[in-house]
Amino acid sequence: MKVQVCVGSNCTLLGAMNILDQLDDLQDIISENSDDYTEEVLEVEAIKCLGFCKGTEEKVAPIVVADGEAMFHATGQAVMEKIVNKLKK
Ligand code: FES
Repeated sequence: MKVQVCVGSNCTLLGAMNILDQLDDLQDIISENSDDYTEEVLEVEAIKCLGFCKGTEEKVAPIVVADGEAMFHATGQAVMEKIVNKLKK
């Protein structure tokens, strides 16, 4: 499962780094408890601004793309839930 975290300036200001830290912790938890999770690898990538935050009055940051699906106003909790639901046996 590929999870991409936007680290453009808008997303960084609104907490992208916290989400990356939490993903790092989750990767450790998954590898330490591999019996509870599927074989699928959790791949985390920091990416440049995808442009979602531009040209809109609406606040959409921070943005995480999990399994090809963009999550707006992403929170660590929402991202972790999505991953655990997909990878937990
Ligand atoms: S800074 Fe994240 S989408 Fe623009």
